Amino acid sequence: MIRDHLIHLRCPNCSGALKLIHGRTRNGVISSGDFICRSCGYRGSVKARIPVLVPAGFDPVWNPPFQRIFGERWAELGQTGGWEPLVEKILSMPLETITSGRSEFRFKRAVFCGSDYYFHRFIAPSETDLDDRTENVDKLLAHAVEHAPRRILDIGSGTGRHLVRLAQWRPRGTLTACLDIDLEKIKILEGRCRRAGILQRVLPVGADARQMPFPPAHFDAVISINGLAHIEGIDRVIQQLAAVLKPGASLWLIEPVAGTDLHAGESVGQLILHMLRNHLELHHGAEDLITRLRKHGFTILNTRRYPALKPKLIFIQARV
Ligand SMILES: C[S@@+](CC[C@H](N)C(=O)[O-])C[C@H]1O[C@@H](n2cnc3c(N)ncnc32)[C@H](O)[C@@H]1O
Ligand SMILES: [Zn+2]
Repeated sequence: MIRDHLIHLRCPNCSGALKLIHGRTRNGVISSGDFICRSCGYRGSVKARIPVLVPAGFDPVWNPPFQRIFGERWAELGQTGGWEPLVEKILSMPLETITSGRSEFRFKRAVFCGSDYYFHRFIAPSETDLDDRTENVDKLLAHAVEHAPRRILDIGSGTGRHLVRLAQWRPRGTLTACLDIDLEKIKILEGRCRRAGILQRVLPVGADARQMPFPPAHFDAVISINGLAHIEGIDRVIQQLAAVLKPGASLWLIEPVAGTDLHAGESVGQLILHMLRNHLELHHGAEDLITRLRKHGFTILNTRRYPALKPKLIFIQARV
């Protein structure tokens, strides 16, 4: 990490100031070291030039939730009629039931939400990811370049399929920060930025979106592209988004609409997935995400669907 970027980091526990100890610095780049929080004693580190500020006791890796619960072959279970073991496993968990006390409409919505469609695409390690050059992503990035003059944060940035382009499009003197819980992905992202010669304006961080290591009211915009749908504890993430954005600043998202083109035969599986998403505190698609954003004080400024894409995606702009 660039030494001058230290001012953008805070303790993920208490937002206190961090002190770098045992830091190795060359030409203004910190390659390794430890962080200690002056207020609560939290300890983080710099590994392979990347600040790692995950909550205490966490490993900086992402185990996609469905894989974590059911093992590598979880997606096949549903397709081969093996839902019963899933049901048994689910019933042994303290799950919220989705039918009780709800109107028929809400029940239907529950059935038709929480599709795993998009999960299939992203579940494999994506080290060889190509740039995401789709028109909708480029539009979002262009929008961010135009309207966020100084500091942008990207959440769940993965290997940097879009982040590198975003930082390249932004002028010197701007900051493009990003966080992902998976250090291996962030390492790939950092390597891409280094090769592109843009590290001076990029701050890649290994951190948890539920406990962000940034000062309050710090960013002019936050973006996330296919990120939030995969992050557990969605309400805590939204609270953190509201905290790190400057008052009046914008959030630009591309998220799956989810669950609108199911086949009748899949409904039991989708219902189970919905229950699982509840259990993991994942959001249930665009409508649910928008409701949650409003609950946490965001105003929705703009939404645009991309119905031709599979999975169906939606662009959401909100202001805090
Ligand atoms: C589907 S990928 C999207 C990556 C990237 N935005 C793209 O379009 O290529 C979702 C990302 O969210 C990250 N993630 C999951 N849980 C997270 C958390 N609690 N905090 C931060 N990132 C998380 C995963 O590691 C993964 O890289
Ligand atoms: Zn602290």
